[in-house]
Amino acid sequence: MKKVVMGANVFRKDFPFFARKLVYLDTAATSQKPRVVLDAMRKFYEISNANVHRGVYGLADEATQLYEGARKTIARFINASPQEIVFVRNATEGINLVAQAWGRANIKKGETILITQMEHHSNIVPWQLLVKEKGANLLVATITKAGELDVLAFEKLLEKKPKLVAFTHVSNVLGTVNPVKELTALAHKAGAKVLVDACQSIAHMHVDVRNLNCDFLVFSGHKLYGPFVGVLYGKKKLLEEMPPFLCGGDMIKEVSFEKSSWNELPWKFEAGTPDVAGAVGLAAAVFYLEGIGLANVERQEVELVEYAFKKLQKIKAVQIYGPKTRAGVISFNLGDMHAHDVSTVLDEQGVCVRSGHHCAQPLMGVLGIPACARISIGVYTTKEDIDKFLAALQKAKKVFRL
Ligand code: ALA
Repeated sequence: MKKVVMGANVFRKDFPFFARKLVYLDTAATSQKPRVVLDAMRKFYEISNANVHRGVYGLADEATQLYEGARKTIARFINASPQEIVFVRNATEGINLVAQAWGRANIKKGETILITQMEHHSNIVPWQLLVKEKGANLLVATITKAGELDVLAFEKLLEKKPKLVAFTHVSNVLGTVNPVKELTALAHKAGAKVLVDACQSIAHMHVDVRNLNCDFLVFSGHKLYGPFVGVLYGKKKLLEEMPPFLCGGDMIKEVSFEKSSWNELPWKFEAGTPDVAGAVGLAAAVFYLEGIGLANVERQEVELVEYAFKKLQKIKAVQIYGPKTRAGVISFNLGDMHAHDVSTVLDEQGVCVRSGHHCAQPLMGVLGIPACARISIGVYTTKEDIDKFLAALQKAKKVFRL
């Protein structure tokens, strides 16, 4: 029997959003949601809605089971233990949690934190505030002209013995895929802890925290075909040693007017009522993606990015940023037109692309540009989407007389 190869055209039918006849090329900002995710969340609110970890009645227990079940699913997905999975609002909150809880307890005057030039603001600003408060220093590893991390420069900075190294798995602008396992090993050898920002990798390739051996890892559920919740992974020992971040509600064990003690992991870091439906929806998204298979996702996306890259490269006046081998984003400029103008002309033709600094102003400075436009893809992105985008770009070229 002939093997049926499923592809974007099939997966697209799982996403009610595509009833709108838009060419959606902004999955790096947020992904569309498959019906199974929307159904799981609606079902939770319609049938199982109650607060978690509070009531002893059956319905409350049902909601708690669903919430903790979701945590187990996420843990399995990245090969962690459920105690190591903290639900947060988004990846940014996860990084802030580490900066405030681990960072304030561990970073001292004169010590250093190492990041890279390709970080977006969420992986820069929390560390800036921390080093300012502590009288510590922020080091920045450079990138090469090709848009890859300069590993020699990175190793050189490790000689300064940073306490923490924080870097992205995949650049949201350049698409560069960093060799996380190797960089983590180098950082550990230098005595640093490692935080990985997996926002742009989690939905596109297999992420295994035990294999990568990172100490912390964050990602946003909404970029993983799920709702607007985030996940922080931390090694159990580190999370145990850390003081809490936000206080109140679930993170409490005992409180008197004199003192308080903290709940066990992971609830020590989950203050107040969590986004239960969000967690349930995220677990449904993980099941959905596992149903396709991360290896299939990666294969399909690599092929599509190669196709788009080659076609874009051929358009005179298009400048692409970042290396040839990349994950699902391509940032570019068209002549000397501002990216917002390019995006507006594309939008008039039903093509959605992000433009601007992509929350990475320092990287724009390194590239010597104020802004760029960016296409980014997901499991539902078809070759036809790319062709429509390319046709719209040709029209933009004409409009701008390039
Ligand atoms: N960091 C997200 C993006 O690149 C928001 O669009």
